Amino acid sequence: MTQVFINGARDEPNVREFESLDPSIQELILAATEARKQAYCPYSNFAVGAALRTSDGTIYSGCNIENGAYATCICAERTAAVKAISEGKRDFVACAVVAQQDNGFTTPCGVCRQFLSEFVNGKDIPLYAAKPTNLPLRVLCTSVLQLLPNGFSFLNGK
Ligand code: THU
Repeated sequence: MTQVFINGARDEPNVREFESLDPSIQELILAATEARKQAYCPYSNFAVGAALRTSDGTIYSGCNIENGAYATCICAERTAAVKAISEGKRDFVACAVVAQQDNGFTTPCGVCRQFLSEFVNGKDIPLYAAKPTNLPLRVLCTSVLQLLPNGFSFLNGK
């Protein structure tokens, strides 16, 4: 059996078939897959799409946007998040990330984990990491707080 790795660690128990997921989750993953097509990534050639669902059911999606001044690149997850937040929606209930890495799934970078954790409102939200093509499509099911245990927050206890 093919082993699945997430950030170097085996994570097979959390991998599900796309078809077995709730239709609302499938829709979120497909929105991230679609957003990935808009990625502007001439430097890395690594296209990423992300989608966030807010508590009113709306999906906000985004792609990574790079720049010749590399430090100004923005990840797909933060593109989606700033789109939602700037439209007045900051109550996130689920996130999906889609990219093509042969060895394992693409999960948010440390900066995005911290950024997203600000908006999970003391709960946690599921995060689905998938690849755009590999069929049958398999999905890593994790969560923002699983990816960022003990992250920094000014909101602790509030
Ligand atoms: N990237 C994302 O957009 N999201 C991730 O989860 C991982 C990395 C982008 C940043 C950069 O444009 C490219 O992928 C390579 O790091």
